[in-house]
Amino acid sequence: MPAPGDVLPVAEGIGLPWDVAVDDAVAAIAGAREHCGDTFLVESGGDHYLFTFSPVGVESFYALVEEDPDAMATVAASGKRAERLALDEIAGVVEDSVRKYDSSPSRDGGLFGRIVDAWAGEPADVRSRGIAMDVALIHIASMSNLMAALGWAIVDLLAHPERLRLVAAGDADLAQRCALESTRLAQRSIMARAVLQPVSFDTGAEVVLVPAGWTIATLLPLLNASAAPGLETWNPDRWHRYRIADASALASPMLVTAFGHGKHSCPAQLFSLSAMTIAMTRLLGRYAMTPKWGEYPQPVPAQIGGVARAADPCRVDYARLGPT
Ligand code: HEM
Repeated sequence: MPAPGDVLPVAEGIGLPWDVAVDDAVAAIAGAREHCGDTFLVESGGDHYLFTFSPVGVESFYALVEEDPDAMATVAASGKRAERLALDEIAGVVEDSVRKYDSSPSRDGGLFGRIVDAWAGEPADVRSRGIAMDVALIHIASMSNLMAALGWAIVDLLAHPERLRLVAAGDADLAQRCALESTRLAQRSIMARAVLQPVSFDTGAEVVLVPAGWTIATLLPLLNASAAPGLETWNPDRWHRYRIADASALASPMLVTAFGHGKHSCPAQLFSLSAMTIAMTRLLGRYAMTPKWGEYPQPVPAQIGGVARAADPCRVDYARLGPT
């Protein structure tokens, strides 16, 4: 089986934003794809990346499995000292809150209470650590992608007043489809898998043996809005529940996603969509909002990974709606 370097082109002069200063990270990879085709190699910061955008390549990407749990454990155990210390500190703070919660007579059914309940029955140290790590994860992920996605959902609804009226009136199914659609269009995620043991990988054109130490990657913004005609526009009706209703125009249904596909898709999809739906319905039901931007807001060009952050402030005027 050939090595990737034997058969795949190398995108010259491309670096990733964590290694070199890049003006527009997504445009840089898009340019490489235009030049090299759907599957190519990027050498950045001394590391090797195999990027793939072909239907078979993307399907092979989502099908990659963790075949070596021992190697995973070694990777997990190595380094990241500072991060581990920070998590220990968080665990201490949350432990105090759990103690207070345990001794309080009135237990609420809020998110913290639900997390605490989920760890009931575990030994004290496992329970305490588990609650702390869940709280830390929800904070980190909510502060980043969730808030950004909610922002785009509101931006898009403000541009579609008839849909906005229905969401504000409580149409939760439409609100969820709007949330998925805005998240799809705002996706800047680089999806990456670290290769721990040599793995055979079907790019659609050939099968290559990717060496250990390499990264196999794809980039959602290069597919989500262009893998079939019409995907560049905002249309919540293209979603049925959590899927694209009619994927027949797509060479593979995996070419488009908001929360990922397969084993590593976002475990917080339901949580995120219900948080977005509730926030959209309440905010738009209570306040009349007037956008203050002229052109549709643009993402920070250098960003790669996660949901786009807006390049400029997106201000809205808002006024409390009277009782209806
Ligand atoms: C709108 C908000 C969010 C979006 C668009 C989003 C999107 C994604 C995507 C596309 C993946 C798949 C990555 C991959 O396959 O490599 C992912 C994974 C993940 N997400 Fe989210 N996410 C969101 C919110 C959250 C929140 C709030 C949490 C935590 C409370 C969370 C926790 C995770 C975790 C732990 C994974 C890794 C799963 C795994 O590797 O098995 N996400 N997310």
